[in-house]
Amino acid sequence: MSFLEKHKKLERNLSLLFVGSLVAVLIGGIVEIAPLFYVKNTIEKVEGMRPYTPLELAGRNIYIREGCYLCHSQMIRPFRDEVERYGHYSLAAESMYDHPFQWGSKRTGPDLARVGGRYSDEWHVQHLINPQSVVPESIMPPYSFLAATPLTTDNFGAHLKANRTVGVPYSDEMIENAVADMQAQANPDADTDGLEERYAKISIRDFDGNPTQLTEMDALVAYLQMLGTLVDLKAYQQEENLR
Ligand code: HEC
Repeated sequence: MSFLEKHKKLERNLSLLFVGSLVAVLIGGIVEIAPLFYVKNTIEKVEGMRPYTPLELAGRNIYIREGCYLCHSQMIRPFRDEVERYGHYSLAAESMYDHPFQWGSKRTGPDLARVGGRYSDEWHVQHLINPQSVVPESIMPPYSFLAATPLTTDNFGAHLKANRTVGVPYSDEMIENAVADMQAQANPDADTDGLEERYAKISIRDFDGNPTQLTEMDALVAYLQMLGTLVDLKAYQQEENLR
């Protein structure tokens, strides 16, 4: 029996064809998937990543609630035009504590993965209150209510706990102090020793310029100002990888 004739038999017998296909797919699947169980880490380790502070996490929740991701991505692709405009391309490890990630699928506005530190707090507050007042041609909608909305701090430890359940390394101490840490980060007069010990590279200041109240604006600006600032990117040679 020639090879073609054997194959003809296989093609004309439905059960045999099914079993044959299954075996072929299984072998392919095992070859692709099995090695992943033996590599220690599929994400390259980087120095500097830490979980979000409670205030940044609250800001992130507002970012998601307001749908900022519908117009903004947080993923710089390794292409020269993107890197020249936004900075070093995003590393997988930079999203390792993101639940859910904010990579985005569409850019009506610019990518925000490295917007931290690019503008002053005042600029962000003004821009969020009335985008056209700082960028006249902007089509971004205003979010002025954030400056007048007190930030809900109730039981915020539960948010940290939920993140810990999905793998973010929040300690018991971080969870216990979540509400106090959230208030202290926006209050330069607070006792912040414990806060600074718990979270490296943290910015502590009154983000919205209104010291009388902790607002949603404080949280959102704290979040925006830390985006892309944790990892020291000088250690990563990018040039030869660019297309
Ligand atoms: C309808 C689309 C849209 C939505 C929704 C939107 N933006 Fe924007 N955003 C833009 C556009 C367009 C620009 C560029 C013009 C400008 O700077 O205003 C921009 C610019 C920005 C910038 C300046 C970025 C830079 O590098 O210059 C920041 C920061 C920003 N947006 C944050 C936010 C946040 C936070 C939210 C949610 C509260 C949000 N945006 C919602 C469209 C949007």
